[in-house]
Amino acid sequence: MYRFRRLRRDERIRSMMQETRLHPKDFIYPIFVIEGENIKNPVESMPGIFQYSIDRLDEILAQVKRAEIGGVMLFGIPIHKDPQGSQAYAKDGITQRAVRFIKETYPEIYIVVDICLCEYTSHGHCGMVQGEEILNDETLPYLVKMAVSLAEAGADMAAPSDMMDGRVAAIREGLDQAGFTQMPIMAYSAKFASAYYGPFRDAAHSAPGFGDRRSYQMDFANGQEALREIAADIEEGADIVMVKPALAYLDVLKEAALAFDVPLAVYNVSGEYAMVKAAAAKGWIDEKRIVIENLTAMKRAGAKIIITYHALDAVKWVSEG
Ligand code: PBG
Ligand code: ZN
Repeated sequence: MYRFRRLRRDERIRSMMQETRLHPKDFIYPIFVIEGENIKNPVESMPGIFQYSIDRLDEILAQVKRAEIGGVMLFGIPIHKDPQGSQAYAKDGITQRAVRFIKETYPEIYIVVDICLCEYTSHGHCGMVQGEEILNDETLPYLVKMAVSLAEAGADMAAPSDMMDGRVAAIREGLDQAGFTQMPIMAYSAKFASAYYGPFRDAAHSAPGFGDRRSYQMDFANGQEALREIAADIEEGADIVMVKPALAYLDVLKEAALAFDVPLAVYNVSGEYAMVKAAAAKGWIDEKRIVIENLTAMKRAGAKIIITYHALDAVKWVSEG
């Protein structure tokens, strides 16, 4: 009889047989940067996550550096919002200043910037708006301007999350023309219109002022379409493609891993984080074990990069064994 249990007898052989192992470099940690001074605001629906003003960023960056994770992903929260989201591509915009600050004080930290207008527009949508419609082609030049301006500030990687058609090609061309031919693009390719983004929209002040995002983000019922979105972004020049959210979409991630030979990222989003933290606070689950199990599942399903609010805790827990 074949006995699977021979290789599960004790920790020594079990750890030798382990197929998937988490590593600090798997993780990218999202950071919310808010305009103002001396601010460290807790995000209520995301225990352990804060909005930091630039003068308080040092606190979290020191932890990021110590954890030796892959990088950070920045989300700026401006005071001034307008229909064109002008602070998204202003030379002294909040995100541009944050990038410059990190570049100067922690040059070893890899900086990914989310490219999208929703934190910067007065209507809270990810593109230009006409009446009730979210315009596609009219939005592209603004996304390009944002990417180029953050590249000029010193960002290492651009991650467009807006879900406009053709934005990867437009941003690639814009970056190349501005001389940033070496800056990679990580495309939020299969980004679903999801209730799991709720806590993020509180954290980033980016909830849409009218309607919802279903005319540009994907229907969560659609797996085949997700593969077409990913194929299109690869074709347009994406270096890394992303599936988002993570846990309810591991099937999409796995299919993408089987279908495409490019690095995959997954975004373990705010609502997923909130659910774990809430249940853990109640004492209903073991946070550490649940988080390691979830993150391992994402890597097992095919993610090369995991963007997660658990990153700093996970590194601690992985090293403790
Ligand atoms: C901006 C953006 C969102 C997230 C990442 N970039 C919100 C949205 O699309 O409404 C969600 C991240 C999270 O929930 O953790 N477009
Ligand atoms: Zn957006």
